[in-house]
Amino acid sequence: MSKITAAITAVGKYLPDYILTNEELETMVDTNDEWITTRTGIKERRILKGENKGSSFLGIHAAKDLLQKKNLDPKEIDLIIVATATPDMQAASTAAYVASQIGASNAFSFDLESACSSFLFGMSVAARYIESGRYKKVLLIGADKNSSMIDYTDRATCIIFGDGAGAVLFEPNEEGFGFHDEILRTDGKGREFLKVEAGGSVLPASHKTIDNKQHFVKQDGRSVFKNAVFNMSDVCERIMTTNELKNEDISWLVAHQANKRIIEATAGRIELEDEKVMMNIHKYGNTTSATLPLLLNDYEDQLKKGDKLIFTAFGGGFSWGAIYLTWAY
Ligand code: UT7
Repeated sequence: MSKITAAITAVGKYLPDYILTNEELETMVDTNDEWITTRTGIKERRILKGENKGSSFLGIHAAKDLLQKKNLDPKEIDLIIVATATPDMQAASTAAYVASQIGASNAFSFDLESACSSFLFGMSVAARYIESGRYKKVLLIGADKNSSMIDYTDRATCIIFGDGAGAVLFEPNEEGFGFHDEILRTDGKGREFLKVEAGGSVLPASHKTIDNKQHFVKQDGRSVFKNAVFNMSDVCERIMTTNELKNEDISWLVAHQANKRIIEATAGRIELEDEKVMMNIHKYGNTTSATLPLLLNDYEDQLKKGDKLIFTAFGGGFSWGAIYLTWAY
């Protein structure tokens, strides 16, 4: 029997209706469309409005979109992983709730968190479960309601982030398509540069943490930017070398959407033409765990069986990596 590879066989997405434009941000903080567009590439982002709706709401809709497109009975799913940096609650798994709500009654499920690398690391985990031969259908969802931890008076962060979710299905493939290789890394020294300080076990919520605005994302943008470009380029170059891939062999770069300039610098380092670089940051901003699956959704029509994809992400922690995968449908 040939070796089992873990292939992506379906994608789905959900974006909330509300569009927060650069023009509206101009009325909220001291910024302007020209600065945001030239420094980040973002024109608008989606925001989930309404009471009692968390990341699970986004994830459930993305999963339902995939189930409907694939005409898949949710009872066939073995495992659901929800990659998220904004779980519904600090305790009680978001994934368990998503699984119940979509009717995946035969699945086990868990959350996976590694800031903006959550989905990339989730791909690695999902692939291992499939490659083991034990599980046949693993649903990986990236869902983040970033607006729940953004200070809309802080122009350094509120212009960047948006809400959204994407889902992909991993299944066994015996034609050799799917997951081939990964380089995944973390460096805890980076946690000072991008964090939400309070609400966890180090600094539980208190009146003081609220007064000090410590439940919001704080970012040293320049340090994150430099580390992101250096490390994403490094792992992309290395995974190409290990797998004897030249730039002309690559069909698509699927890079975390945090800043258009970071993506362009990474693509430039591996000498990839613009047409091969998936980009949708102008529409959604940085949706943390949802950026990679949202790209696959937006480019699904252009993807062909056998296309060689390099995924890469960088995020808080620091955490980063690259994955080499061939498209299976
Ligand atoms: O996904 C997780 C990882 N996150 C990232 O990858 C984000 C990485 N960092 C970035 O994308 C960029 O650093 C930012 C978009 C956050 C900031 O862009 P930058 O080009 O690094 O700007 P900066 O922080 O160096 O600030 C340049 C200037 C400053 O003014 P002075 O000191 O030069 O007078 C800022 O105060 O731009 C000012 N500035 C703004 N001006 C208008 C900062 N934010 C804004 C703003 N509107 N929103």
